[in-house]
Amino acid sequence: MEVIITSSYGKICEEAAHIIHQEWQKKNNLVLGLATGETPLGVYKELTGMNQRNEFDFSDIVAFSLDEYLGLEEDHPQSFAYYMTENFFKHINIKTKNIFRLEGRPSDIEAHCQKYEEKIKSYGGIDVQILGIGRNGHIGFNEPGSSLSSRTRVKTLTEETIRDNARFFTDEREVPRFCLTMGIGTVMEAKMIILLASGKEKSEAIKNCVEGAVTASAPASALQLHPRVKILVDEEAGSQLTNKDYYKWVFKNKGRVKDYMK
Ligand code: PGA
Repeated sequence: MEVIITSSYGKICEEAAHIIHQEWQKKNNLVLGLATGETPLGVYKELTGMNQRNEFDFSDIVAFSLDEYLGLEEDHPQSFAYYMTENFFKHINIKTKNIFRLEGRPSDIEAHCQKYEEKIKSYGGIDVQILGIGRNGHIGFNEPGSSLSSRTRVKTLTEETIRDNARFFTDEREVPRFCLTMGIGTVMEAKMIILLASGKEKSEAIKNCVEGAVTASAPASALQLHPRVKILVDEEAGSQLTNKDYYKWVFKNKGRVKDYMK
């Protein structure tokens, strides 16, 4: 795990966009797994800027959404489909045929989830998965207790998540109770994972994710078993990390191994 602690939310987003750009330079038809929520918004803004300055071409990029509320139509302003279009896709030159998403109202839920998994595989798997983290440690909508090898499926949101997400709806009662989400097992198959967190309210979840025991009670802790994970946090989200000085030291010395061997 590479833990990168930056001074501000803006810096996290710049760093995440920079990493994705570097990966794209190695593989132009990069397959991205994209999360919604407040945290990744800045990353999508950075990437949009790169696209508009002709530094980053999205024409061969493929995108898979991480999750979706069950019951919402695609054009519902709180659906994740709507979020992705409004905050990212409509501003960049990604092709519609390269955008895949979980539907809010599939006719056969199980078959839809199964097909989604197959679709990801047909593109060779996800190259870079972007994740936020819930205050309860969820990734995607894999709430505490989710199997660490779970696949794309229906989940019931916790009351805490419903309350946290009520800020996006006019009334808490409007927040869907169920969702579809890639499973933790699905996420873990991505070749690289970038998890972003900002603010003090995420500090306990980050502590459990990075330094806690690997447990279904803290779903993000599964990432400790992934070979290529970058945890990007601001000072506040990283404030409870016991080894934060070491993570900063590692970052400061990054790329210096070659010099050291001269
Ligand atoms: P947030 O959501 O980025 O809006 O805080 C993160 C999450 O719940 O996964």
